[in-house]
Amino acid sequence: MERDDPLSVSTDEILRMDQQVVHPWESFDLPHENRMVVGHASGLYVQDSEGNRLLDAPAGMWCVNVGHGRREIIDAIVQQLSRLSYTSPWSHPTEPAARLADRLSHLSPGDLNHVFYTTGGSTAVDSALRFVAFYNNVRGRPEKKHILSRHDAYHGSTYLAASVSGKPRDRSWFDFETRTIHYLASPNPYRREVGLSEEAFLAQLLAELEDKILEIGADRVAAFIAEPVLASGGVIVPPDGYHAACLSICRRYDVLYISDEVVTGFGRLGHWFASEDVFGVVPDIITTAKGITSGYQPLGAVLISDRLIREIGGDADRAAVFANGFTYSGHPVACAAALANLDVIESDNLLEHAREVGPYLQDQLKTLNDLPIVGDVRGVGLMACVECVVSKGSRQTLQIDHAVGKRIDAHCQSMGLIIRPLINMCVLSPPLIIKRPEIDEMVDILRRGIEKTMNDLRSEGIGDFG
Ligand SMILES: Cc1ncc(COP(=O)(O)O)c(C=O)c1O
Repeated sequence: MERDDPLSVSTDEILRMDQQVVHPWESFDLPHENRMVVGHASGLYVQDSEGNRLLDAPAGMWCVNVGHGRREIIDAIVQQLSRLSYTSPWSHPTEPAARLADRLSHLSPGDLNHVFYTTGGSTAVDSALRFVAFYNNVRGRPEKKHILSRHDAYHGSTYLAASVSGKPRDRSWFDFETRTIHYLASPNPYRREVGLSEEAFLAQLLAELEDKILEIGADRVAAFIAEPVLASGGVIVPPDGYHAACLSICRRYDVLYISDEVVTGFGRLGHWFASEDVFGVVPDIITTAKGITSGYQPLGAVLISDRLIREIGGDADRAAVFANGFTYSGHPVACAAALANLDVIESDNLLEHAREVGPYLQDQLKTLNDLPIVGDVRGVGLMACVECVVSKGSRQTLQIDHAVGKRIDAHCQSMGLIIRPLINMCVLSPPLIIKRPEIDEMVDILRRGIEKTMNDLRSEGIGDFG
């Protein structure tokens, strides 16, 4: 990683000015802790402002799928900027937005051929939910508004997207839409009742979905929203057959199925989209963002089925206008970045590659199971989670204030690895370009980071690690 373009101010100066920045998920007991300043990045690695190189195991924020610094994407951005930096999506089609929609309609499952562009994942989820309400209003079913989500889901940070998110800690200090949103159990096999088989657990989850629809009334339930794998909830992979069975229950009661593929799309599970190829479902709507540009530009998209569009077109109310959109919907530069990003995924065979190295990552991480603090290692494709507990058999989490994930992350960072700490969990979702030696490097540092954390905890008298 060359540094012929050093940062223009010192690390201390950046950190001083950064005190003015309110970061996402910040607590306000200022001055806040110093963070690592990232100055440069290339491939799998980022470089901090002091010149230390670290493997970027979360791929930024689940997004840098093709890795950092790809020349083709940078060039496409620059070329589009010089050609047309912006025009109103209200009035003018552009070549990149049109070409990207055409391409997405070929990559998406089933008849999900219509694309509504947004600025990211939250706005995609928000727009999908607004579309569902609009759809039912236009169809003369204004009472069909209730949305089913799950505990541990994360769907974003706008009011509506946050309202369908079910991570307990995120809900403490905010207000949410509550009248029309309902939560089902998290489909987390690790946390199922002791003694319950995975089949019985699946049956329980499906019965809960159907009972909830019947309890609210099918004529009042509009949609079920689900991440194929609950990402920020801790990489929760539902029991086999869960999604297909949920879809068939939804179909039975005319409930739309929204698959939130903001994380799982664009190669993370070795396919353009995971819904059909991995989980056997063709949803009515897919929300996507992140890997669509590999983070080179902010962009999100809602993919909507031809059927839904047909049902609100034609003879439906002609005065109905989908009054939802953003100044930067289908931003030409973001769409140009997305097109170049899709080219890289294709030309480098990254889907095949992810399918090849994903199982290796999962197997290598499973070797951490011998550590007494590790309660569960889970994942699929190139997304994984190591969950720490107080003692092996108990499934009890380490108290939140011990911030085990953060402690492990700090040790890992000092050894050249960034992980994503989530309370008592360590999440990994490396760029798709990762190869076996770098997976070994990642797992080796993670093991040492966990061991060091266990030693710290032991010396503080926390936990029971033998
Ligand atoms: C599944 C899922 N949906 C939606 C979002 C929100 O996306 P964004 O942060 O781009 O608004 C996220 C973000 O992590 C996500 O993981």
